[in-house]
Amino acid sequence: MPEESLRAWTELIAACSPARSPDVLDVGAGTGMFAVALARWSLARAVVAIDASPAMLAHADHHENVRYLTADAAALPLADARFDLAVLSRVIHHLPDRRQAGAELKRVLRPGGAAVVRTTVRERLDSIVYEYWPELRALDAGRFPSESEVITDFTAAGLHVTGVLSFAEPLQPSLRAWRVEVQRRTSPSLASSRTHNSVLVWSGSMSQSPPEPALTRSASATTY
Ligand SMILES: C[S@@+](CC[C@H](N)C(=O)[O-])C[C@H]1O[C@@H](n2cnc3c(N)ncnc32)[C@H](O)[C@@H]1O
Repeated sequence: MPEESLRAWTELIAACSPARSPDVLDVGAGTGMFAVALARWSLARAVVAIDASPAMLAHADHHENVRYLTADAAALPLADARFDLAVLSRVIHHLPDRRQAGAELKRVLRPGGAAVVRTTVRERLDSIVYEYWPELRALDAGRFPSESEVITDFTAAGLHVTGVLSFAEPLQPSLRAWRVEVQRRTSPSLASSRTHNSVLVWSGSMSQSPPEPALTRSASATTY
């Protein structure tokens, strides 16, 4: 992902935190892209990044404030009420038991803590790639949850949705134009998403007022 996009995403995610200097959990952290970005560019006090795949973590970027753990989202080896902010980026579609993962998020979040789910949802599969690879749309429709499925499962787990932001990242008009754009960049990356993005924000507490994520303010910064 280009640095400007990663910074904008980091700003958006951090804006959802109820704490100014949050303890952050990155679930399904992969190679630590967001874990390290949050450690570098937000006021995060510390980041714990978990992933079920030791192979992914073996390639994770190092940062002094990021601790990596091999763990399943459905069974976090972490204390109760430990985090202010949890991030799940492009991982929700991998989780076979979303309710259990939601229950684990609720358990490890402090009262009023927030969970941010960054994902594509089934009803908005509009990436340009489907025009060139139509079979992929059916595959993705089978693996990505709908927005309402995520809301239903996390609500059943005791979380409380406080905001949903959905937007398409700008597309190049053609693959040729996309290639020109990639070549123009000094560090090109095809990881730059051109899919529709949804960001769902959850509060771990139903008894307190949920945090008000600054989604509107941050949204303009995320349109890369
Ligand atoms: C598409 S990658 C996303 C990585 C990173 N969050 C990002 O946005 O770049 C999905 C990650 O979820 C991890 N994963 C899949 N199932 C998981 C589970 N049940 N518990 C924890 N991590 C899981 C995979 O190993 C993989 O690293």
